[in-house]
Amino acid sequence: MAVLVAPSILSADFANLASELKRAEDGGADWIHVDVMDGHFVPNLTIGAPVVRSIRAATGLPLDVHLMITDPDRYLGDFAQAGSNYVTVHAEACLHLQRTLSQIKALGMKAGVALNPSTPEDHLQYVLGDLDLVLIMSVNPGFGGQRFIEAVVPKIARVKSMLADAGRSGVPISVDGGIDAATGKLVHEAGATVLVAGKSIYGSGDVGKAIAKLREGCANKAKTHA
Ligand code: DX5
Ligand code: ZN
Repeated sequence: MAVLVAPSILSADFANLASELKRAEDGGADWIHVDVMDGHFVPNLTIGAPVVRSIRAATGLPLDVHLMITDPDRYLGDFAQAGSNYVTVHAEACLHLQRTLSQIKALGMKAGVALNPSTPEDHLQYVLGDLDLVLIMSVNPGFGGQRFIEAVVPKIARVKSMLADAGRSGVPISVDGGIDAATGKLVHEAGATVLVAGKSIYGSGDVGKAIAKLREGCANKAKTHA
């Protein structure tokens, strides 16, 4: 499966979101990753549903909304109305994870589960039939531009085999945090099918070139293993 690239607009210029989205779109992005932070679940504040609504109006790409917030159930309706396609909640933030995933789907969105670097993959075991996306954090969530935590790589392979055992191999495995061409290749080899990247895309001078570089690393893997 060809890897998907999801630029994180956290590293974009928030005063020029429309043109930043266009840069991603013209550069060949597959999804737009939107980082929502509440200052409780993570030590940082970013944006909420009104900004997602504006982003929705400015791009035709699927919106991959990553909720780094406590009690996400309270806001699911807002994010649905704002036009989110995927809504991902953190397993650590949900007391009743299966209920939350059902609610996301009842609102017409795809349901993702995110795991912090120190959270074991077992949290997914009893919701494998309910989720549409797994998001594996390769940094502690809260900020863009952090260093990739290599210890999470074996978790990606384990999640891949859990999904296969449950007959859910088609579920995308996304990896988020410190992804560039080198770490992207590493996580893709372990089973990641979506690469989320902020700094390595928006922090580079050329968004299209950065996206192409991420893809190239993964395409080389396909050649070596052919
Ligand atoms: C971190 C966010 C990430 C972040 C990734 O809390 O969830 O999506 O924007 O940024 P980079 O690619 O710069 O690590
Ligand atoms: Zn994110």
